[in-house]
Amino acid sequence: GMAGESRNWVLMVTAQTPTNIAVIKYWGKRDENLILPINDSISVTLDPNHLCTTTTVAVSPSFKQDRMWLNRKEISLSGGRYQNCLREIRNRACDVEDKKKGIKILKEDWGKLHLHIASYNNFPTAAGLASSAAGFACLVFALAKLMNLKEDQSQLSAIARQGSGSACRSLYGGFVKWIMGKEENGSDSLAVQLTDEKQWDDLVIVIAVVSSRQKETSSTSGMRESVKTSLLLQHRAKEIVPKRILQMEEAIKNCDFTSFAQLTCADSNQFHAVCMDSCPPIFYMNDTSHRIINIAEKWNRSEETPQVAYTFDAGPNAVLIARNRQTAALLIQRLLYYFPPNSDDLNSYVIGDKSILQDAGLTGMKDVEGLPPPPETKDNIPSQKYKGDVSHFICTRPGRGPVLLADESLALLDSENGLPK
Ligand code: DP6
Repeated sequence: GMAGESRNWVLMVTAQTPTNIAVIKYWGKRDENLILPINDSISVTLDPNHLCTTTTVAVSPSFKQDRMWLNRKEISLSGGRYQNCLREIRNRACDVEDKKKGIKILKEDWGKLHLHIASYNNFPTAAGLASSAAGFACLVFALAKLMNLKEDQSQLSAIARQGSGSACRSLYGGFVKWIMGKEENGSDSLAVQLTDEKQWDDLVIVIAVVSSRQKETSSTSGMRESVKTSLLLQHRAKEIVPKRILQMEEAIKNCDFTSFAQLTCADSNQFHAVCMDSCPPIFYMNDTSHRIINIAEKWNRSEETPQVAYTFDAGPNAVLIARNRQTAALLIQRLLYYFPPNSDDLNSYVIGDKSILQDAGLTGMKDVEGLPPPPETKDNIPSQKYKGDVSHFICTRPGRGPVLLADESLALLDSENGLPK
């Protein structure tokens, strides 16, 4: 039987995985169960210090069934996507030995052993910030370590893909391409790293978390409707994206911000045009999103070259990518001018890498109130302000891929009983 004198041992692994934002969007599946896309996509991984999922996975002969807790609340693992990921990983499990703890698990034992999984996002799930991407990537990465899989990161991405398409891109840091693949079984639909986060390290990312009362259509059902009804989506997947992918790869390789920004904005806008072209039309952006686009476009047009790129996923939040720290300071000045905080707590209104605020000379509310209108608005009607329309800003940057957290104090499960701490 299984080694280990008592049945009380618990073996566990904790990992931390970043989220990602697509700059060439994935929208539309050719296989719903395997989650195979109709086009390639490219993303940038966000710094896990500001946005990440931490997951602890544990195995013990004392566990009676597979169980999972998300943000401390128990959730069901019966969904097809969880089941597909768990099956694919168990099929590839290998022998594991922990000599110190006197535990030996044989390859064939994994089918009989149950798992406990605890996952935690360091950002609110409700904010609509791609929590499923980081979540499934972290689950797959942590389980692969626990069960000693021999697969490489790309092969793991093809498993994470079956949890949520965008999750496959969170297995790497920096810039990542999800290759759509052509095999029927999905074995070649996986993520590859284009460049790591150090190759282009002056980019700054500011996320505007936009206040909204509306519950949006999920990505899964939204893209299903678009595939069924939008002719623009067919044209996009066949004619537009293949060319854009090549141009984007070139822009990333050369750290060519002008080209990067043009492609990123155009692709976000086309994705939302596809949503509008679906029947019935799907609206993810709201008035605030549109205002942010206008601010970015007006500023970019007033300069010789683009200073900022914007991109929006299946929700109203804006992800703004600034050329460098200097332009990020100018960006945050503009954003705080148009969207001043509702309360006078600047510290909770701009979170993440607060050094951008210092660079912009914005250390208190007095500085924000004293901001002059941006020069590009000059000849226009006095600009209106939209207090309260943005919930908060998150300042971050491109970041690294998944890591193991060796420090047991960071585990989300108790090492004695395998239950949430
Ligand atoms: C707009 O990966 O959330 O964010 O595969 O059905 O789980 P499923 O969808 P999901 O879709 C993400 C769509 C997007 C664009 C992108 O991330 O590429």
